[in-house]
Amino acid sequence: MTASPRVHSFLSLRGDPMKYQPRHDAAVTLAEDIELVRLDGVAKSYGTGDLEVDALRGIDLTVAAGQFVVVLGPSGSGKTTLMNLIGGIEPPTSGSVVVAGHDLTSADDKALTEYRRTQLGFVFQFFNLVPTLTALENVALVAELVGASEALAREALTEVGLGERADHFPSALSGGEQQRVAIARALVKDPPVLLADEPTGSLDLDTGRQVLAALHRARDGGRTVLLVTHNSAIAAMADRVLRLGSGSLVGDEVVAHPVPPEEVHW
Ligand SMILES: Nc1ncnc2c1ncn2[C@@H]1O[C@H](COP(=O)(O)OP(=O)(O)O)[C@@H](O)[C@H]1O
Ligand SMILES: [Mg+2]
Repeated sequence: MTASPRVHSFLSLRGDPMKYQPRHDAAVTLAEDIELVRLDGVAKSYGTGDLEVDALRGIDLTVAAGQFVVVLGPSGSGKTTLMNLIGGIEPPTSGSVVVAGHDLTSADDKALTEYRRTQLGFVFQFFNLVPTLTALENVALVAELVGASEALAREALTEVGLGERADHFPSALSGGEQQRVAIARALVKDPPVLLADEPTGSLDLDTGRQVLAALHRARDGGRTVLLVTHNSAIAAMADRVLRLGSGSLVGDEVVAHPVPPEEVHW
């Protein structure tokens, strides 16, 4: 097995170059040894008094690099809240969140902005593309933010199978294609962590599978993908499945034989 450039670039983000020196034949295994996400005693409440809602109640969790993790739970179980805490969008009420060596609990706004800009790719249910920009321009906009070239933006579109659609506006693309543009936009930063919140929630099965395949490929090379969904069928393609219920972690399984995204059914 050869190390992909992404393994190298990801590993180079880590603190200790001796410890994380990539070896060509062992890079992927090595990446899996790295603890990328760590939550200790994380709770999150919204509101106060009688109106207080406990969205998360004491989550302890570590996620290794290079895994495709599916977080399952019914509506209201705290999935989006979990994504927002790992994404540095909101602080926990108590506990600590550390991602890729960044302690988000003690970070100020400037550090959080920098963290989101450089360490994270976000994919949402409703693509959030800029309607007046082409697919390529949507991706290039983010590439520019992190100092990546337009050539890399093109490459990211090709990676999600949309090289031929670069000059289309979102309105001329199907839902699945728009979502793949959104994935390319997340990938162009080459982030160690990709967060996807119900990415197939508004797609039919066929286009949903293409989106899942693009996300699954994004995991290659040591990147961690956290996908939250209420659709339990998607769990079949995961390396690991976490279950949330009423703000608590109620399940954590390693999947022995994940199926390819093309075989996921719902
Ligand atoms: N900004 C907010 N203000 C108040 N309550 C919230 C807010 N965000 C989420 N909640 C509540 O927290 C709980 C978990 O929500 P959420 O994380 O969005 O769940 P899920 O994504 O699994 O549907 C729900 O009861 C929800 O109503
Ligand atoms: Mg949600």
